[in-house]
Amino acid sequence: KKVIFSAIQPSGTITLGNYLGALKNWISLQDEYNCIFALADLHTITVRQEPAKFRRNVLEAYALLLACGIDPEKSPFFIQSQVCTHAQLAWVLNCYTQFGELQRMTQFKDKSAKHADNVNAGLFTYPSLMAADILLYQADLVPVGADQKQHLELTRNIAERFNGIYGQTFTVPDAYIPKQGARVMSLQEPTRKMSKSDENANAYVAVLDKPEDIMRKCKRAITDSEACVRCGEGKDGINNLMGIYSCVTGLSNEQIEKEFEGKGYGDFKTAVGEAVVEHLRPIQERYADYIKNKDYLEKCYTESAQKALSISVHTLNKAMKKVGFIPRS
Ligand code: TYM
Repeated sequence: KKVIFSAIQPSGTITLGNYLGALKNWISLQDEYNCIFALADLHTITVRQEPAKFRRNVLEAYALLLACGIDPEKSPFFIQSQVCTHAQLAWVLNCYTQFGELQRMTQFKDKSAKHADNVNAGLFTYPSLMAADILLYQADLVPVGADQKQHLELTRNIAERFNGIYGQTFTVPDAYIPKQGARVMSLQEPTRKMSKSDENANAYVAVLDKPEDIMRKCKRAITDSEACVRCGEGKDGINNLMGIYSCVTGLSNEQIEKEFEGKGYGDFKTAVGEAVVEHLRPIQERYADYIKNKDYLEKCYTESAQKALSISVHTLNKAMKKVGFIPRS
């Protein structure tokens, strides 16, 4: 079986973008592949966190991902900071990653502009930690949204470079980007991606939003003046809503155009809201159970961390030996 690795940052809200772009795929790939998933909490401290809130966010994200359908019996699902090999390999890979490569990362450019008062070294070297996450498990495929494509390219370059110097050490991974949902856009500014850090909460749907909030956000979504439900150029808002509707209903764009022939945007937006609410309802119900069961969560992440450590330590040792470090006997 091919190996799949992916991770998500537990930085508060998990959005419909995270879910449709990545999480939904993680769930569906579990039977076919050897999957390993993580909460990338080391990545999260590149932006300052309040400790108590940070702890809460990590537990909530863990419970939510179980509710989405990750089965830790099948797919180890661990918390990155609990598996020490990640930070260790990241250091080694930092020394095989060029300053110029990191400087070209668009996420770094965006985030350093946004958090200009805290452009720390971790924010800069974030992609080599991400490369370590992936390469430690010899992953073949990495299911992510389109915004992570550039980081995946860099991961491939780092792996190829290291393999080129020392011989085959790391599997060179491919991104696995869905056809629909890879770029869910803001409901308020549909030329920008849906992001949890948007100041305007109407711009994104959170997986845990109340039904009435989801309905309100969908009904207020920005569209255009054509009043015809079809995808096309200059129709970013409608393209986005059609993408979302297609993901949660399984209908094709043609089927959607047919369903709403002769109908206005009001009807369409209501239908999108209702379909999203219905899709998220069972996830929200399961979440309410998991979050109460702290012992079960602890059991799952502890066992998963042990499994992840025992897999990843092989790759770490192999890489360190190739570099020339003396192993501890
Ligand atoms: P993060 O936490 O920002 O996002 C998690 C996943 O959600 C996807 N995503 C989206 N997909 C579609 N539309 C959107 N609007 C949208 N917003 C986010 C992201 O592409 C991602 O797949 N660096 C990563 C976490 C990470 C990681 C890794 C991922 C750390 N190590 C190793 C893969 C492999 C991140 O910050 O994702």
